[in-house]
Amino acid sequence: MSLVVENLSYEYVQGESVLSDYSLKIDEGELVVLVGPSGCGKSTLLHCVAGLCEPKSGTIYIDGKEVSQKKPYERGIGIMMQDQPLYEHLTVEKNIAFPLRARGDKKTDVSKFIDVLQLGDVAKQKVSKCSGGERRRVAFARAVVLKPRLLLLDEPFVSLNDELREIIMERIQDIGTTTLLVTHNLDSTLTTSKTIKKITLGSKTQG
Ligand SMILES: Nc1ncnc2c1ncn2[C@@H]1O[C@H](COP(=O)(O)OP(=O)(O)OP(=O)(O)O)[C@@H](O)[C@H]1O
Ligand SMILES: [Mg+2]
Repeated sequence: MSLVVENLSYEYVQGESVLSDYSLKIDEGELVVLVGPSGCGKSTLLHCVAGLCEPKSGTIYIDGKEVSQKKPYERGIGIMMQDQPLYEHLTVEKNIAFPLRARGDKKTDVSKFIDVLQLGDVAKQKVSKCSGGERRRVAFARAVVLKPRLLLLDEPFVSLNDELREIIMERIQDIGTTTLLVTHNLDSTLTTSKTIKKITLGSKTQG
């Protein structure tokens, strides 16, 4: 699925632009890494694409169709937010399976996600007892469990060691879905891959 963002502007406070006429294009199957300093609007951009924020102006097209009027769950997007809220009272396993069960899918087994993300030891543990890195992996699994056609990842490598970063990176590339990954820090996991297209988003003051 392709993504086109055209002249997107967003303000949290009237008269103070966070994103100003921002445009971006991602082709089907492409993995694009958007790098920019803290506060430049990366998370805001992802929230607008996912339909969690309403842009002041601009247009978002998914597979050539405008999605501005579509609800988040109608956009076919999987998002791993920077501060992803999880269901604290549920286990790791139930958190990962949640999007499936919420859609009435009682069968699909999530053990392959648990295994590959090395969450076996905490699968039956409540998320409220998990470490930062475990929570990030649960958030990642939740974002991909419905096989989204477009994947948005906000700082997916924070709190993860090199091995887990590589594991997540391999998963992203195996899934092969169109992906927009945002980060303030282009770490080695991302710089070593030649297949990744890297773009930047300037600082807030540059508009
Ligand atoms: N709810 C909010 N109300 C007002 N201002 C906000 C709100 N959320 C974010 N901002 C401001 O909007 C700007 C962009 O925020 P955003 O979270 O998109 O940046 P970011 O590029 O993701 O930064 P980081 O790398 O630190 O995650 C920042 O100046 C931030 O202070
Ligand atoms: Mg952010």
